[in-house]
Amino acid sequence: MNQNFGKSFGRSGRNSAGKDRTVARPHQQDHAASEAMAHPGLAARVAAAAIISDVVQGGHMLDERFASEAAPSRLSGLDERDRGLTRSIATVALRRLGTIRLALSQLVEKGLPRNCGPLEWLLISASAQILFLDVPDHAAVDLAVRAARLDAKSAPFANLVNGVLRNLIRRRDEFLDQSDPLEDDTPHWLSARWRRIYGEDCAQAIAAAHRDEPTLDLTVKADPALWAEKLGGQVLATGSVRLQTHTPIRDLEGYDEGSWWVQDAAAALPARLLEARPGQRVLDLCAAPGGKTAQLALTGASVTALDRSAERLKVLSANLARLHLEATIAVCDAASFKAEPFDAILVDAPCSATGTARRSPDVLWTKKPGDISALAAIQTRILDRALSLLKPGGVLVYCTCSLEPEEGEAQIGALLRRNPDVAREKIDPIALGLPLEASTPDGDLRLLPYFLPNDDARQRGLDGFFIARLKRVN
Ligand SMILES: C[S@@+](CC[C@H](N)C(=O)[O-])C[C@H]1O[C@@H](n2cnc3c(N)ncnc32)[C@H](O)[C@@H]1O
Repeated sequence: MNQNFGKSFGRSGRNSAGKDRTVARPHQQDHAASEAMAHPGLAARVAAAAIISDVVQGGHMLDERFASEAAPSRLSGLDERDRGLTRSIATVALRRLGTIRLALSQLVEKGLPRNCGPLEWLLISASAQILFLDVPDHAAVDLAVRAARLDAKSAPFANLVNGVLRNLIRRRDEFLDQSDPLEDDTPHWLSARWRRIYGEDCAQAIAAAHRDEPTLDLTVKADPALWAEKLGGQVLATGSVRLQTHTPIRDLEGYDEGSWWVQDAAAALPARLLEARPGQRVLDLCAAPGGKTAQLALTGASVTALDRSAERLKVLSANLARLHLEATIAVCDAASFKAEPFDAILVDAPCSATGTARRSPDVLWTKKPGDISALAAIQTRILDRALSLLKPGGVLVYCTCSLEPEEGEAQIGALLRRNPDVAREKIDPIALGLPLEASTPDGDLRLLPYFLPNDDARQRGLDGFFIARLKRVN
């Protein structure tokens, strides 16, 4: 990948968000506000550029930027439609960041001038609209030029924005044809890693799957076929209901009554594998926001849902309340939690989340190589504590939404070597509606984002996951 464009603009300067941002004076703020009023969609473009910068330069998570309490300044004044548009632009810009940067590097061969404010991010945001979104070209260009004029540092380069984007439109097909998912839209350290671990073809397939828009999957309390019919979806072999809709979730039938919840098809499998039963004491050690807790509570087991984050547990509580399900909630570090032993324990450990890049393309640009070993060390501590809380004969399911073996296969291999009284229980992928290739040589599950193929890109794929089922022998 030609990284000239990125390099010229300080491509990966993490934790420096806002460093180069011009602080608007009151009269500039007034001007910006009146411009935004006069030009529908302008505020969304400005917000999208700022959020892309927050993620790529600042290392912030995309979801966090859209949590209203986290970034009021980015989204203030935007109505729901504009927030949706901002999110679409930022998401596709991050999903195809490498392709966009490669195109821009060829269009601005000398790189951008220094000290040009948000110019790079405005260009990236506009390019995402031109290359990948159903936005009229003239609107993408016009609003990018207007957005550049709103900032004192980027204003002198408004004509450059116009010229670059017009050339992008002219050469659009060329840039799209030359773009390669693994070479361009995957950071080099990850593409090298996946090639080494999975081989060339598989690494290519993973990167290609990351280009698909994620599906909308639901876990239903009962009768998936009925809900698939009601909502116009289909029941997957894994049991989830997959929808093709852009209707806001809250407006879908069954939301208010709590008949279902949103959960990726892969994420729905670990809790099922615990096979919890009424009357059992079950612990969900890293529980928030609670998709798996809801599944466990639905079995009739007595569930304790623990998480280190009080904020995220508030979301879990709200989700359980909507679903009319109950769990005992505890704010605690899982590595130091003490309690009477449990019959079954789910460890959905914090991880690099590289399996969720379809849904959260920011993970590709915010994670760095050292994160994997740091997270693996946390997972080991949590797993060791979990085992100490498991009754003899009890079952523990461990999972991570990561593609990295250090957070999956290697983690469980090391645990079994440390604990001779723990045995692996092999998982049958076919019984779960998965392909045979989902099974690792040891009998765990390794789910890759290109599984569940479908000619329709809106219907295929699932999150990358590792899942193992262990038993403490009596
Ligand atoms: C993968 S998410 C869990 C998703 C959840 N199981 C679900 O299905 O909705 C990992 C969770 O681990 C929590 N976490 C991270 N470190 C933790 C720790 N040391 N102890 C407990 N929870 C932790 C995070 O706050 C986060 O909510």
